[in-house]
Amino acid sequence: MKILIVYYSRTGVTKKLAIHLASFLNADLEEIKDQNSRLGLLGYLNSGKEAALKKIIPIEKLMFNPKDYDLVLVGTPVWAFTISSPVRSFLEKYKNDFKAWAMFCTQGGEGEQKTLSSAEKIVGSPAKAFLRLLTKQVLRKEFLSEIEVFKEKLEK
Ligand SMILES: Cc1cc2nc3c(=O)[nH]c(=O)nc-3n(C[C@H](O)[C@H](O)[C@H](O)COP(=O)(O)O)c2cc1C
Repeated sequence: MKILIVYYSRTGVTKKLAIHLASFLNADLEEIKDQNSRLGLLGYLNSGKEAALKKIIPIEKLMFNPKDYDLVLVGTPVWAFTISSPVRSFLEKYKNDFKAWAMFCTQGGEGEQKTLSSAEKIVGSPAKAFLRLLTKQVLRKEFLSEIEVFKEKLEK
C-alpha cells in the first residue's frame, strides 16, 4: 500500500511523530507550509484565532500528489479544540483526491474528538483510523504500542 503522510507542525512535535510514522509505515512525507508568522505570543494567538474561526489560508504547493497514493495520512496539532488552519486549508483543497485517509494529532490536553469530527466533516467520509498522542508522549517517545495499533487499523 502506497502511503503519503501530510502534516503541519508549528513547534516540531507533530513533525517528530510524522517522521517516525513515515519510517514505521514506509511512507512518503510532505510538510504543509504557509506564509503566516506563528512565532511568539502573537503567532500563538493568531494561530488559535485562525483555528477557532475555521480560516482557510494560502498554503504552498505540495511536492507529492495525494492522488498517487492508496492512503493519505493527515497530521495536525490540535488548535483551539480543532484542526490547525494549515491542515484545514490542505483538507479543503485536496479532499477529493483521497482514495482513503486517516488522521493523527498531537495535543497538550483536550479536543481530539472535535478535531477528528471537523476533519471528517470536511472530507465527507470517516477516517480509516485515528491516532492521538499527547505532546509529552511524543517528546518522550512513549508511543510504540499506540502506533502498532494504528498500523493494524490502517492495514485492515
Ligand atoms: C494556538 C494553539 C492552540 C492550542 N489549542 C490546544 C487545544 O485546544 N487542545 C490541546 O490539547 N492542545 C492545544 N494546543 C497545544 C498543541 O496542540 C500541542 O502543543 C501540539 O503538540 C503542538 O504540535 P506542533 O509542535 O507540531 O505544533 C494548542 C497549541 C496552539 C499553538
